[in-house]
Amino acid sequence: SRVRHYKFNYPGPTIVAREDDTLLVKVVNHVKYNLSIHWHGIRQIRTGWSDGPAYITQCPIQPGQTYTYNFTLTGQRGTLFYHAHILWLRATLHGALIILPKLGVPYPFPKPHKENVLVLGEWWKSDVEAVINEAMKSGLAPNVSDAHTINGYPGLIHKNCNSQGKKYMLRIINAALNEELFFKIANHHLTVVEVDATYVKPFKTDTIVISPGQTTNVIIEANNKAGKYLVVVSPFMDAPVPVDNVTGLAAVRYTTSHPTTLSTTLTAPPPINATEVADNFTNVLRALNSKEYPAKVPQQVDHSLLFAVGLGVNPCKTCVNGSRLVASINNVTFVMPNISLLQAHYSNISGVFTADFPAKPPTPFNYTGNQVTNLNTTTGTRVYKLPYNATVQLVLQDTAMIAPENHPFHLHGFNFFVVGKGLGNYNPKTDPKNFNLVDPVERNTIGVPSGGWVAIRFRADNPGVWFLHCHLEIHTTWGLKMAFLVENGKGPNESLIKPPRDFPKC
Ligand code: C2O
Repeated sequence: SRVRHYKFNYPGPTIVAREDDTLLVKVVNHVKYNLSIHWHGIRQIRTGWSDGPAYITQCPIQPGQTYTYNFTLTGQRGTLFYHAHILWLRATLHGALIILPKLGVPYPFPKPHKENVLVLGEWWKSDVEAVINEAMKSGLAPNVSDAHTINGYPGLIHKNCNSQGKKYMLRIINAALNEELFFKIANHHLTVVEVDATYVKPFKTDTIVISPGQTTNVIIEANNKAGKYLVVVSPFMDAPVPVDNVTGLAAVRYTTSHPTTLSTTLTAPPPINATEVADNFTNVLRALNSKEYPAKVPQQVDHSLLFAVGLGVNPCKTCVNGSRLVASINNVTFVMPNISLLQAHYSNISGVFTADFPAKPPTPFNYTGNQVTNLNTTTGTRVYKLPYNATVQLVLQDTAMIAPENHPFHLHGFNFFVVGKGLGNYNPKTDPKNFNLVDPVERNTIGVPSGGWVAIRFRADNPGVWFLHCHLEIHTTWGLKMAFLVENGKGPNESLIKPPRDFPKC
């Protein structure tokens, strides 16, 4: 019922909607690149045509063209975001998407005095498309970003909105391309109440870790003396070669006295490889699992999958070393098709993909040892087919084929439950005994620990084609991605709807 027009901003405008609203977002492509927009974390039940990843669910919107995304916010409330889902354009094209609870439905925690959105980003001084194109030509890793931004600013900014004694909710979004991030505020506890638009059992922490694609709502209490308190945003990377040490800074200011008379309380970011700080945060996350918001964890598993994820090296005649970095899942480096998988599936167009994605890695090997096995990957556009409503357990196992590294994996079209996590090689006999099937946290993006594994479960109750990929954009570019194809069900509301009339053509 409301129409709003937005022009370019960085980050983009915050969209505020309510649970059960239908959003119609008309995107007019005014840039020189092909474009598509993904509504990260929105379930898109039966509306895969509006999900957005280019060549997975749609052909791009070409320069000068328009497309209206049309979807309903069913059964979800919280902080999510939208971003371009083609090339590296999400570096600058992203913004917050906030879903308020239905009218009259309170938060399951005391209402904060005010709410603020904090979008964390990454900035390159040069054109990001030039950065990634150069890297793809050379076969080597791209340049790291020059700055971390907070609501678009790289340096010291002040949040003026706090007044003493009150509680504020911060809706924090990691929209960075390639960096997992630590976030902390000097002298303030952060009470975590929600992640990825799902409520969690509230807990206090000094530092949160947030991966690209993740969102976290925290409540802070302005209960110190009047002053300025430093906010730090710094990279977390548990890999042998940490490269980026740039810290983004902001400050929270209490407005009880004149700012120039206030001193700033400082705080230091954790070291870049502070895995224990990250674990202290992720290990305590639990679904709220209340009467109103029960955790519907699948107790039985129809499809049990093991995906080995990591980097590899493939031959490349034109590259500087004669080889290029690639990434793979079960040794398959995903190749993007020329038309969208969803269209090919819906219209029965053959030759676009094969439905034979391997359920397990090719040969059993020591994933986390330093063996150089299967370093060369195969290539293909392969999807894994699931019947409607099948339950899936997916173990994502990091490999050390080149080097162990954290991988924040994002699944489109679903939330999943994080039922287990461990270091070393996953053991299918003993590890499931320790799974949490009662109140595991529910998310849409989860970090696969460096040299370890994580187990997730979900119910395939959304027909369509759904992308699964590492949300570190460089890894996606290198091929760390695949897709699930969920078939239509037999019931009246269990099949994909028709594509919209203005659906972009390739
Ligand atoms: Cu936020 Cu497929 O991405």
